[in-house]
Amino acid sequence: MEVVLCQDASDAACRAVDAVEALLREKPDAVLGLPTGSTPLLMYGELARRCAAGTLSLAKASTFNLDEYIGLPEGHPGSYAAYMKRNLIDKTDLRISHAFLPAGRAKDLEAASREYEDRIRTAGGIDLQILGIGLNGHIGFNEPGSSLKSRTRVKTLSSATLAANIKDFDGAEPPTMALTMGIATILEARRILLIATGASKADAVREMAEGPLSANCPASALQLHEKTAVLADPSAASLLKNKDYYQRSQALQARLKGA
Ligand code: F6R
Repeated sequence: MEVVLCQDASDAACRAVDAVEALLREKPDAVLGLPTGSTPLLMYGELARRCAAGTLSLAKASTFNLDEYIGLPEGHPGSYAAYMKRNLIDKTDLRISHAFLPAGRAKDLEAASREYEDRIRTAGGIDLQILGIGLNGHIGFNEPGSSLKSRTRVKTLSSATLAANIKDFDGAEPPTMALTMGIATILEARRILLIATGASKADAVREMAEGPLSANCPASALQLHEKTAVLADPSAASLLKNKDYYQRSQALQARLKGA
């Protein structure tokens, strides 16, 4: 796992968008895996800015979101479908028909999970998966204890996740279950970028990058992926033991690219 020490949260967001831009230049119909939450808001802002400036186009791309709450009415502002409409679809040229989320309102959630996996496969698989990380080390809504071989399925949200999600529901109870891509689904992406910002993520980042591979920290499964980079701001990186090494490696890699 490559750890990239970023100057701040904006730098992390710009580096993620640089990767999206480079991918789209090479493959305009690329398939992106996308997160929601607070962390990627800067990234979506930058994507919208570059789209308006004409340096990047999502017109031929497809997107697959990691997760969606179960049981929210259509159009509920707390739903991830509404989040994606607000933050990406309304602000870029991404076609709504090419923006997919797990069907959290489906009657048959097992069938909906299988269909989501099939849809990703039919699209050719995910070229670039972007992730955030939960305070407890979750990726998507794969809470601690999730099988490292899990696929898209229903997950019950942990109390830590429920507490973190309350802010999106105006004080009302947030949904307690979600449909989420599994860890195995995520690991099939050709490339993965995880963005981590803020001191509250420092423990999870250390566990993920330097702790043991363990279902107790689902993000540690990314250690098994050969093309994963973590974009961490100084606060999120503050508890890493091998920071000096990451710094040195980053400087040498940059020199190699510039050479
Ligand atoms: C959201 C998702 C979650 C979030 C994580 C961090 O689609 O998959 O894993 O990335 O909960 O959320 P924030 O960025 O709000 O701290």
